[in-house]
Amino acid sequence: MSDHEQLARDLHEEIKAAGDEATLEAVRVSALGKKGRISQLMKSLGSMDPEQRKIMGPALNGLKNDIQAAISERQKALYAAALDARLQTEKLDVTLPLPPSAQQMGRIHPVSQVMDEIAAIFGDMGLSIAEGPDIEDDFHNFTALNIPAEHPARQMHDTFYFNEREDGSRLVLRTHTSPVQIRTMMSGPPPHRIVAPGRTYRCDSDQTHTPMFHQIEGLVIDKETHIGHLKWVLEEFCKAFFEVDSVKMRFRPSHFPFTEPSFEMDIGCARLGNEIRIGEGEDWLEILGCGMVHPSVLRNVDIDPDVYQGFAFGMGIDRLAMLKYGIPDLRAFFEADLRWLRHYGFVPLDIPTLHGGLSR
Ligand code: PHE
Repeated sequence: MSDHEQLARDLHEEIKAAGDEATLEAVRVSALGKKGRISQLMKSLGSMDPEQRKIMGPALNGLKNDIQAAISERQKALYAAALDARLQTEKLDVTLPLPPSAQQMGRIHPVSQVMDEIAAIFGDMGLSIAEGPDIEDDFHNFTALNIPAEHPARQMHDTFYFNEREDGSRLVLRTHTSPVQIRTMMSGPPPHRIVAPGRTYRCDSDQTHTPMFHQIEGLVIDKETHIGHLKWVLEEFCKAFFEVDSVKMRFRPSHFPFTEPSFEMDIGCARLGNEIRIGEGEDWLEILGCGMVHPSVLRNVDIDPDVYQGFAFGMGIDRLAMLKYGIPDLRAFFEADLRWLRHYGFVPLDIPTLHGGLSR
């Protein structure tokens, strides 16, 4: 028997004997690899005389193809056998409960929850969400809102000022969300119907004040928008937000430079020890400031006050969250304590809607 016939036999034996893919691969390398047995034989073709090469060339090529085919055949068989073995041993019980996902473990902060609830309520009334920057200039935060320099309201706001710029002006951290009124009215012609939730800043810190807090601003400007609309919007808001059938409301005259007339709105409540219940009782609780947008403010943004009028309101979101969810301490909002968040937080996919329920 010639060398290559013997080799073919040996290789077929080895391929048959290979019990796993690694062993089979070793056989392949030892036969067809660079220094493999078939490759060595092929190299010897060069030193053969032409007659011999004519016979051996095709014979060796045949051997190579034959062995390659045998290996891939065996490979398929081994793969199928390995898969079978895995399927026999590995089992997955699809009826087992899933481990909790991030969406189940994570919690939505009460402030975010309340912002979403408020957005759902006002969205349902046809107001859209507007936003403005936390870092404001004097014009948007004060001047355009009818709060000129030297106006005492500037001191009342305990403003955080940035360093003076070259032209002597100073940026501020917005002290309220009212500058978004200005940005909205300057962004295009009336009518305007927006709410603007966001962060606000005042240099003030005690049990009921934090230097950063949250407000939501409302603004509606149209030709015939009047105080009746303002009262209706706020009443519907309070009923929806506190999830009660009726609320008592009281408008006290107040003063804001950017509204005329201006009011503070109280809602009826009952105080039982530490607890406050909305929608019952004889006590009052102040929840927001509002009024009809001052004609000077309209003029500042090029709106003709003889044609257009409207109302604005602003309220503290943190306080609303505390009231609605019975959270006693404001400072805990900003401590990033996961235990607190687990206790007061909300499940991420329970998105507040009016039809599905704001809070569950
Ligand atoms: N910006 C006022 C505040 O921060 C609230 C307010 C907004 C009042 C809009 C009237 C109208 O206290």
